[in-house]
Amino acid sequence: MYTRIIGTGSYLPKQIVSNDELAKRVDTSDEWIFTRTGIRSRHIASGEETSSYMGHQASLKALAAAELQASDLDMIIVATTTPDKGLPNTACLLQERLGISAIPAFDITVACAGFIYALSVADQFIRTGSAKTILVVGAEVLTAVTDWSDRSTCVLFGDGAGAVIVQGSEKPGILSTHLHADGRQKDNLYIPSPLPGQARADEPSYIRMQGREVFRFAVKALGDVVEEALKANHLPQSAIDWLIPHQANLRIITATAEKLQLSMDKVVVTVDRHANTSAASVPLALDEAVRDGRIQRGQTLLLEAIGGGFVWGSALIVY
Ligand code: ACO
Repeated sequence: MYTRIIGTGSYLPKQIVSNDELAKRVDTSDEWIFTRTGIRSRHIASGEETSSYMGHQASLKALAAAELQASDLDMIIVATTTPDKGLPNTACLLQERLGISAIPAFDITVACAGFIYALSVADQFIRTGSAKTILVVGAEVLTAVTDWSDRSTCVLFGDGAGAVIVQGSEKPGILSTHLHADGRQKDNLYIPSPLPGQARADEPSYIRMQGREVFRFAVKALGDVVEEALKANHLPQSAIDWLIPHQANLRIITATAEKLQLSMDKVVVTVDRHANTSAASVPLALDEAVRDGRIQRGQTLLLEAIGGGFVWGSALIVY
């Protein structure tokens, strides 16, 4: 039994903010941001465009692509670090928006690697026969935890949501997933406590990051995890039709492509227009390339991501 992706969808907030517009708020420039990161603009959510709202919009598109109704779902998994509420979880709020009940619905908080982790969890449920059809969503409002006075972080992030419907099938789908974490890296990328009773006045709940450390670790970990995926499946680098990387920084993406000896026209890149949307970045990129016809049925896709923890992983998939 394989887990196959049978529908994809995504949603981006209406407001688009360019680097030049950001440069009016903080001491930065389009040239600095683009050269260091490959980012030109990002979408920024309004108050109504919460993770559950955007996840819902993306899910409706994925359901339509899969030619299914919400009532066909057995489970909802949402990867998010920016939930609408402390509780209920965002998957429950999404379930309510979809007008269904009773099926399990839960969140996974694994930062930018959240979608890869969520897909892996869905794959386990499907391969063991415990579920047949699962909605997997990555949805984030990272700009709500961004310190807009800190130029070293505020230029990097954006908002959005991506969704996939996965279903059990005898035809190949997910070949393997590979998950890792290293909690010793906790101080390199974090958001201080969001709990009112534990929040410190001198450390508001905004993203804090040691950029150079994140960069160094990401290049190594992602290079290793894509190699691990190929090795586990006894496949050569040439077997990969598309790399769908986490969209944090074009230089990190290029380094992984080089490791795979893959030309950049085989890499789906959205970071220039989306910036880093954390758990939403991989499903957003996947949906874009499926809808514009670049990704075709039967092709082999390698998805990868890394985020604060550090946490990282990959998924090798026959689409
Ligand atoms: N505009 C202009 N100057 C800036 C800006 C900015 N937005 N931000 C920092 N600078 C300045 C710094 O103050 C510093 O100035 P100084 O030399 O006078 O002190 C100079 O630019 C260089 O700063 P560095 O932080 O050393 O710049 P670096 O070349 O390392 O690039 C960057 C920073 C882009 C953040 C890089 O380290 C990076 O991409 N790291 C990965 C981080 C990442 O992707 N995080 C996303 C979350 S994690 C994930 O999703 C993987």
